[in-house]
Amino acid sequence: MIKPVMTSDNTDIPDPDAPAHQSVLMNEVLQYMDPQPEEVFVDGTLGMGGHAQAILHRLGPKGLLIGLDRDLHSLEQAQKNLEEFTHQCRLIHQDFRDIDQALADLNIDAVDGILLDLGISSYQLDNPERGFSLRNSGPLDMRMDQNGAISAYDLVNSLTEREIAAILKDFGEERWAGRIARQIVSERSKQPIEYTDDLTRIILKAVPGKGKPPRIHPATRTFQALRIAVNRELETLETVIDKSITLLKPGGRMGIISFHSLEDRIVKNKFKLFEKANLARCLVKKPVRPSEAETEDNPRARSARFRIIKRVI
Ligand SMILES: C[S@@+](CC[C@H](N)C(=O)[O-])C[C@H]1O[C@@H](n2cnc3c(N)ncnc32)[C@H](O)[C@@H]1O
Repeated sequence: MIKPVMTSDNTDIPDPDAPAHQSVLMNEVLQYMDPQPEEVFVDGTLGMGGHAQAILHRLGPKGLLIGLDRDLHSLEQAQKNLEEFTHQCRLIHQDFRDIDQALADLNIDAVDGILLDLGISSYQLDNPERGFSLRNSGPLDMRMDQNGAISAYDLVNSLTEREIAAILKDFGEERWAGRIARQIVSERSKQPIEYTDDLTRIILKAVPGKGKPPRIHPATRTFQALRIAVNRELETLETVIDKSITLLKPGGRMGIISFHSLEDRIVKNKFKLFEKANLARCLVKKPVRPSEAETEDNPRARSARFRIIKRVI
């Protein structure tokens, strides 16, 4: 698989030497989602199409995969990567919270599997133009869907100090939320905060620097919080889980890979409720985690947690 790079004129040019997005927990996804010939699956977070490709192989020529992504660039890349399966998949630019609409448009009432691999891909993270990374400077954007109305720039430059602090606390569990919010508001009164490295510098100024070196970069939680707020990730996740359980056939599987405790808590609690209501059975007691070998090979897999349920009625 090849990974596109952004050139200065913003055209996507595949770079054959660039590493591809490495799909996490691939074997575990196949083991628990257990795609069978002729089944119908939804990959709600298509990304580069890595999981989708492996699932399509299992579904065979009479199976169908519906792939959704709200990032048009990722969708176009997945389209190229899945070229050999054109007749077995429908790839749609859509937010997974509208999964019911996507299936209704295709006249499909129920499916055998729904997979979500949350967050962003390496393709998005490593592209400075998208503003997701605190390591490469770029505009403060962070929208997964580039047609989205609100960017990180809008939040950072127009919310009140209190509102910014609440976002950092609620979505980043940031200990220094108040200090960072105060520093942001003070700096933006001089000039708007436009770039990711400006924001990083402001955060480093706000966070006390003494003591043990931090385990993660001091700006990590703020970036996570802003991304969650810009893309309304947690409410979208709650919506898609509630809709998905009604779209699974009896025996259908729903698997969700999350990357931080806020997401995992939502998945865990929703799945427990379905189990209590005798709608579904959790296939694992604890979330499946990547092996040491996988995290060594792909450090971004480190925080992945995979939970799966099977619809019973
Ligand atoms: C971690 S990547 C998925 C990688 C993919 N599983 C693979 O193997 O290549 C997550 C993808 O989900 C997309 N995404 C995140 N939230 C979404 C949402 N609410 N609706 C649709 N796509 C979403 C992102 O744009 C990104 O492309």
